[in-house]
Amino acid sequence: MRVGVPKETSPEEHRVALVPEVVGKLKAKGLDVVVQSGAGADALLPDDAFTDAGAQMTTDAKEVWGADIVVKIAPPTPEEISQLGAGSILIGFLAPLTSPQTTSALAQAKATAFAMEAIPRISRAQSMDALSSQSNVAGYKAALLGAENMGRFYPMLMTAAGTIPPAKVLVLGAGVAGLQALATAKRLGARTTGYDVRPEVAEQVQSLGSMWLDLGLEASGEGGYARELTEEERAQQQQALTDAIKGFDVVITTALVPGRPAPKLVTQEAVEGMKPGSVIVDLAGEAGGNCELTEPGQTVVRHDVKIVSPLNLPATMPEHSSQLFARNVLALLDLFVGEDGALKLDFEDEIVAGACVVREGEIVHPGAKTAVEAKV
Ligand code: NAI
Repeated sequence: MRVGVPKETSPEEHRVALVPEVVGKLKAKGLDVVVQSGAGADALLPDDAFTDAGAQMTTDAKEVWGADIVVKIAPPTPEEISQLGAGSILIGFLAPLTSPQTTSALAQAKATAFAMEAIPRISRAQSMDALSSQSNVAGYKAALLGAENMGRFYPMLMTAAGTIPPAKVLVLGAGVAGLQALATAKRLGARTTGYDVRPEVAEQVQSLGSMWLDLGLEASGEGGYARELTEEERAQQQQALTDAIKGFDVVITTALVPGRPAPKLVTQEAVEGMKPGSVIVDLAGEAGGNCELTEPGQTVVRHDVKIVSPLNLPATMPEHSSQLFARNVLALLDLFVGEDGALKLDFEDEIVAGACVVREGEIVHPGAKTAVEAKV
């Protein structure tokens, strides 16, 4: 069986879905790997490194897309999907809740496709959890962007010229990215505070040495995710946060609700209340942003506050993000491939069933189906 690794086509996507270390492990399982020439270049993985690990390199994209299993990072374009071989399996981020055009194209191509973001968040699937591995990268980088964009120190400094107090960093949304942002800012010496609508997170925030901002709101939803707030809860939250945000030098926002626009946690009034020179790093730009004044993908200054909204932060650290993603894929392939190197897809397995978006042309993921129907 052959696994194909195409070169990512978006100019901002610098990651590659498999790295040589993982190619070697797949070869040991009896799989062949074909990689599009240059696929690892942005992640500083030259073709030679893949060849040394046992991969076959090709300049022909069709050869890669015609493999039995194609592994990719960013959602494929309809044109890429049309190159999938009959009976090929696609694995990658497919945005099933927000990109109905991808799902429809996969269904039309009669493909079978597994979305990394649809893998259930259960203990057995932790090693396959690419949302977590990539969110860790994003959270780390967000804390660094906060420091880089501010004209102040994170740590407390006691110098001959006097003492500088530590920066105060607030992280809104303490999921995987938020916890990593808190941990990173803390390591750099900032005084950190975390906030989330899932009260069970308070303990995790405190275990990092951060303070917990308690606004008395609880909104735990299905599958460990947050639910969307009601209109009344939203107004209550915005008012409480507007008061709290004033005192912080850096606010990092990561709040997301799957398939929904990002909640607006930081109002214009809150930005106006911040000290000049303060920084907001909004990681929710792809879902519209957590701050009312965010311009996704841009850095803007509003009311003397810098609002930074980078898109696809994991792609800015392609070496480690590719390595982690590739290990997630390897763990998933362990489930897909038998001892003899042949495919054995068990759709009774909740991970296989949960991650499958399209099966031989039929849309089987409930959220993806709803998104496609809503567009029709
Ligand atoms: P996410 O990226 O979907 O959202 C980020 C954070 O924003 C979440 O913590 C969410 O509660 C918070 N949020 C949403 N609306 C908000 C609002 N209005 N105000 C404030 N905060 C808000 O979350 P992520 O990082 O993907 O984690 C989702 C869940 O999955 C978590 O419960 C996490 O613990 C769990 N998880 C489980 C794993 C496993 O067992 N395999 C692995 C990783 C995560």
